[in-house]
Amino acid sequence: MTDLLQSAAIEILKINDRGSYTVPTKGLYPFQWNWDSCLTALGQRHFDSARALTEIETLFAHQWPCGMVPHIIFHAQDDGYFPGPDVWGCKRPVPTSGITQPPVAGFALRRLLDKAPELRDRAQPLLGKVTTWHRWFHATRDPQGSGLAAIIHPWESGRDNSVDWDIPFERVPTTGIAPYTRRDTQHADPAHRPTKEQYDRYIWLVECFRGLEWQTDKLHDASPFQVVDPGFNAILIRSCLDLADLADEMGETALAQENRALAHKGLAALSALWSERHGQYLCLDRITGQLIDSPSSGGLLTVFAPIPPDRAARVAATIDGHGTRFHVASHAPGTKGFDAKRYWRGPVWLVVNYMIADGLRNAGQTDAAARITGSSLDLIRGSGFAEYYDPLTGEALGGGQFTWTAAMVLEFLSA
Ligand code: DGY
Repeated sequence: MTDLLQSAAIEILKINDRGSYTVPTKGLYPFQWNWDSCLTALGQRHFDSARALTEIETLFAHQWPCGMVPHIIFHAQDDGYFPGPDVWGCKRPVPTSGITQPPVAGFALRRLLDKAPELRDRAQPLLGKVTTWHRWFHATRDPQGSGLAAIIHPWESGRDNSVDWDIPFERVPTTGIAPYTRRDTQHADPAHRPTKEQYDRYIWLVECFRGLEWQTDKLHDASPFQVVDPGFNAILIRSCLDLADLADEMGETALAQENRALAHKGLAALSALWSERHGQYLCLDRITGQLIDSPSSGGLLTVFAPIPPDRAARVAATIDGHGTRFHVASHAPGTKGFDAKRYWRGPVWLVVNYMIADGLRNAGQTDAAARITGSSLDLIRGSGFAEYYDPLTGEALGGGQFTWTAAMVLEFLSA
């Protein structure tokens, strides 16, 4: 069975391979997505490490001069996706979007090079590029120097329609945007995707930033949506730490020190997002200064950074307390806004499972980590390589033959 799963996962990674980058899935997502690609490289490393490094190199070839790494690279023309390059209007040599995504690259690079040290020389230029991106987060997304970066669009979190954004999103207008036609609902069940009102707000923000000509140092203060997502920041912290270790091993001491300093600043600030009542971290609405009372997987994902061990134990207990047949629900079942089938409002995502399990294992919560890994593989055996899954029934949802799901399976099988 393990061999069958492994070969099925490799087959999906190959089907979605476009040579120097991999699409998340045919139809629904026909370009290169930022964190999808870095996590995909972790799957590719199991059968072709050099190809895995290419995935990350391709992404960073489209890094902006300011340091931002965009969330989508539109390598090829495809009308099946909205919003396309014309809506973004970013004026890059190869079109890209103008916002970013969770910075998993530092983590992925270290993991890849641990297994393939022969690629270190080739990967050397990436150390500086990833550091520039980390520096950019602190400079442009944390103008007051709090230690934590804000996202300015829900798509940046990767958890597009999480309940976390409902309240801060109310400040984003739904009027005055150009007429548009969604494409996602032609590929996936509309009941499992974000609502029209959410799409109007996504597009309002894109048009607002486009109006500022994508000057990334101006967008944070201009955005009516500024949220500090603990999961996103945990990824940034973990990537800074992993890149620092790698840089030390590769003789880049200054880069190592810079990344470690950013990570420690972030870790110290993260503590203020802990909720004793929920037994997990919560998002902070930077505009109101209030924690957002929404127990999502973003607050559980925080365990991906080296948080205090007693808090990691609480996170493990909170996940168990969900009481779902499959772990980890993207929103706490039974709480306001939970929807077992709608994208990031309840369904299980294997990439999040993977990072939570990794963090729990590092924190000594090995049984909890093993339960999440087991649950993830049960979903694959029962429902195939879907984009996401109903945590109550295990039903496959969203796109099929999904790249990062397959990549995570290869990681889980080797854990
Ligand atoms: C989408 O189009 O659904 C993406 O998540 C945005 O990146």
